[in-house]
Amino acid sequence: MSEALKREAARAALAEVRPGMRLGLGTGSTARHFVDLLGEKVAAGFECLCVPTSEVTAEQARGLGIPLTDLDTIDALDLTIDGADEIGPGLALIKGAGGALLREKIVAAASARMIVIADESKIVRELGRFPLSIEVNRFGLGATRRAVAGVMAAHGAEGGLSLRLRSDGEPFVTDGGHVILDASFGRISSPEALSRALFDIPGVVEHGLFLGMCKRAYVAAADGVKTVDP
Ligand code: 5RP
Repeated sequence: MSEALKREAARAALAEVRPGMRLGLGTGSTARHFVDLLGEKVAAGFECLCVPTSEVTAEQARGLGIPLTDLDTIDALDLTIDGADEIGPGLALIKGAGGALLREKIVAAASARMIVIADESKIVRELGRFPLSIEVNRFGLGATRRAVAGVMAAHGAEGGLSLRLRSDGEPFVTDGGHVILDASFGRISSPEALSRALFDIPGVVEHGLFLGMCKRAYVAAADGVKTVDP
């Protein structure tokens, strides 16, 4: 995937940003381009106030002099710009490969609008080819994992299922202190029903299905950036 395409999508979304806006800043390689470009504007005198969706994004934004706050200090945001792992029909999303899905969803939910930026490889006809990130409490991991496997058997495509603890030797730990199960469904035919079934499992903290949240996507391809609305 080309960094140039990601940057063009980020640049298109920057046109949505108005002086004085309170912004949610996403996480991941595409969102990183947006934060870079916003940093250039801020250095030139542009005023905004931002809530980052991860410690990584917070560090990047601080380094660029972007003013930061949190959702205890302010009660709402005007706009959040973030990346996605998959963009399906109606702008239903899979997010979380960067491990920031919990804060990303909290920030998006506190925003009047969420815009996604991506290259065209993220567009799919049906969600589920990309593994779904499921953030779970470390307590009772075995029980939660078995319950998630049960939900997968009921909601995934036959033969396409795999479930693993995100790990690089050591388990990946999120900013919230949880771990992540990566669940490959193959195809997700009913994202809403899957979302409800996952939230019925007590150890599930959050999952990477963002349904009805994204109001616009800027999708970059070799022939330009397309605006996609739900
Ligand atoms: C992080 C995310 C990212 O936005 C998503 O993984 C896309 O990342 P990238 O722009 O690097 O492809 O959800 O939790």
